[in-house]
Amino acid sequence: MAVYNLGSINIDHVYRVPHLPAPGETLSALDYAQGLGGKGANQSVAAARAGAMCHHIGAIGPNSDWVLAEMQAYGIDLRYVSVLPVATGHAIINVDPQAENNIVIFPGANRALTADMATAALAGAGPADSLLLQNETSAQAEAAAIAAARGMRVVYSAAPFDIGAVRAVLPHVSLLVMNEVEAEQLRAAQGALPQIDCIITKGAQGAEWISAVSEPLFMPAFKVMPVDTTGAGDTFIGTLAAALDLGLPREAAMRRASATSALQVTRLGAAQAIPTAAEVEAFLSTH
Ligand code: RIB
Ligand code: NA
Repeated sequence: MAVYNLGSINIDHVYRVPHLPAPGETLSALDYAQGLGGKGANQSVAAARAGAMCHHIGAIGPNSDWVLAEMQAYGIDLRYVSVLPVATGHAIINVDPQAENNIVIFPGANRALTADMATAALAGAGPADSLLLQNETSAQAEAAAIAAARGMRVVYSAAPFDIGAVRAVLPHVSLLVMNEVEAEQLRAAQGALPQIDCIITKGAQGAEWISAVSEPLFMPAFKVMPVDTTGAGDTFIGTLAAALDLGLPREAAMRRASATSALQVTRLGAAQAIPTAAEVEAFLSTH
């Protein structure tokens, strides 16, 4: 009945550039904005906007009060977010006119998460709850093991791809979400995808839910004009986790996640671009 998310919180520095910089090139940005980001925070915002009770487990550094204020304004519970004497994670994001991007992240406080923090946060969680994880923090594997032992649904986004992290987390995962590149990297490393529920997101080509026990489910993407795809995958995953938590069948959950990320890519930024439930309803009623 609640979504716990052990996840990164970043300050995103977003530069709209005429083209992505080449090696050795110095480039002037067309404009600049700062916003809330991090795969974890983006997923929590999406989950909260989709109507889930969302508890974020994370860490930031000093002098980042606006980050917490913003997460709180989205209705995310922050009692398991620590403020530590380490820099807040951040990301440098370049976005070109074709909505292509490249991203450099500095993990900072996100890598200071510990198994103890996960244990404390999950002490009251049970089989009706789910845990979301990605690869931008520390302690994912420990958190996944604790959650699985409590009977929780563990939803894992293998991004950014790291085979060591994936191998450590995978034994505890109920639903694995990857984009096509990550799925290919996992196939190359393991010979095959694991025999668990997997969702492969394919951007404008849609998303596919592959299951060992039921027919694959394909959800085409809604056609939109992308402005900035940063955080689109996070939006899909956070919305999907919330929809499943709220009891939606998997097809309806996929459709809602797909609509939410379609709207998200039409706006600049990561967390701030995630639409409200009302906006998603309006979009779905006309598509
Ligand atoms: O997935 C998008 C996110 O990746 C950005 O918000 C950035 O912070 C990086 O973590
Ligand atoms: Na966006």
